[in-house]
Amino acid sequence: MPGFELFDQREIDAVADVINRKMVHRYSFVNCRDEIYKVEEFENAVAEKVGAKHCLAVSNGTASLYVALKACGINPGDEIITTPFTFIASVEAILECGAVPVLAEIDESLNLDPTVVEEFITDRTRAIMPVHMFGGAADMEAFRTITRENGLALFEDSCQAMGATYGGRWCGTCGSTWGTYSLDPYKVLTVGEGGLIVTDDEDLYRKMEYYHDHGHKHDKTIDRGAEKKACLGFNFRMSEIQGALGLVQLSKLDGAVEALRKNRTRVLDAVGNVHGLAVRRSADPEGELATQLVFLLPTPQTARRFQKAAKEAGMGCGILEDNTWHYARHWDTLRDGATYSRIRCPYDCPLTESMPLYRPNEWPQTQEILSRAAVFGIDIVMSDEKIESMAKAIAAGARAAL
Ligand SMILES: Cc1ncc(COP(=O)(O)O)c(C=O)c1O
Repeated sequence: MPGFELFDQREIDAVADVINRKMVHRYSFVNCRDEIYKVEEFENAVAEKVGAKHCLAVSNGTASLYVALKACGINPGDEIITTPFTFIASVEAILECGAVPVLAEIDESLNLDPTVVEEFITDRTRAIMPVHMFGGAADMEAFRTITRENGLALFEDSCQAMGATYGGRWCGTCGSTWGTYSLDPYKVLTVGEGGLIVTDDEDLYRKMEYYHDHGHKHDKTIDRGAEKKACLGFNFRMSEIQGALGLVQLSKLDGAVEALRKNRTRVLDAVGNVHGLAVRRSADPEGELATQLVFLLPTPQTARRFQKAAKEAGMGCGILEDNTWHYARHWDTLRDGATYSRIRCPYDCPLTESMPLYRPNEWPQTQEILSRAAVFGIDIVMSDEKIESMAKAIAAGARAAL
């Protein structure tokens, strides 16, 4: 699954080049860097590749969400509707703004269900933020209609979806405002730790650029210490080492996505047609990243039988209701409001008084789907033997379950 599977001499050379030049800061040292700006080069290459006007690189995917939300002016008291099946970072980024994450329900695409989100819209709702889980696009057309009709912004947490497309457009460029990518060690394009924000909005891009670096305006003609600042901000900068790594990884992305899709197809072909065995629904099957292969069994009981038989046949799989990383049901820290701050917006913030932290705190529809969803991970580099044993395990699981 991760891009580090493809690390080779090119990544080593790119990092060594930065070290040899002793130039690790993405800004500053203007007079002795020979006009070489690796992060900037990476940002420009990403913007061109995904078809966005602007790209800002930041320190990680969590920071990409936080910077994007802050630059949009998301405030205490605001509500953002998102999904209970995501990585906790989606929710933490909203909470860090003092805003309220409203977790709706997923459908059989494992993404936010557009048919239920309208029930969760209030006069405090500012945006809907679908998450393209496991690199499969959410139903963006439906969300575009809902957000347009309700005067809301449409954000995209595409942290798991760099390389995936929806209707021919890159996930991350299908909303109204911004999309984000994570480049952490589990992602198809990885730089160790890194994040990207893409947007067509020049004004928003500038705000994000300033905010992510203490308000600096990044005027190359003025010494960094002397330049005027636009705002108070923070440090979410990417370093030149990650920028250089990112450029090499970006050049491998198309090949990595092609390999993932081919490997998933090879597994499915080897399993053959099994009556009643259904894969996860998709808003755009052609555009999926194929980092995972998810089967939706008819019931939780059949899913457990599938899991047991697959394991006995040589390869285990997960049932998504057990997924502590991605399912809000397991997040005690969210339920308890476990923070270190004395003033804990939105938990006991005067601006959000008497407001439940997130609604609802049980997700019957999500639970029903995740309890019968069996998942296998797909690698970029996958041997014939692994493909064969995965197919054997799936066939055995299906025989036991269906
Ligand atoms: C959906 C989603 N959002 C945000 C993030 C946060 O990214 P990072 O780990 O780079 O901080 C992740 C990371 O896995 C993710 O899956």
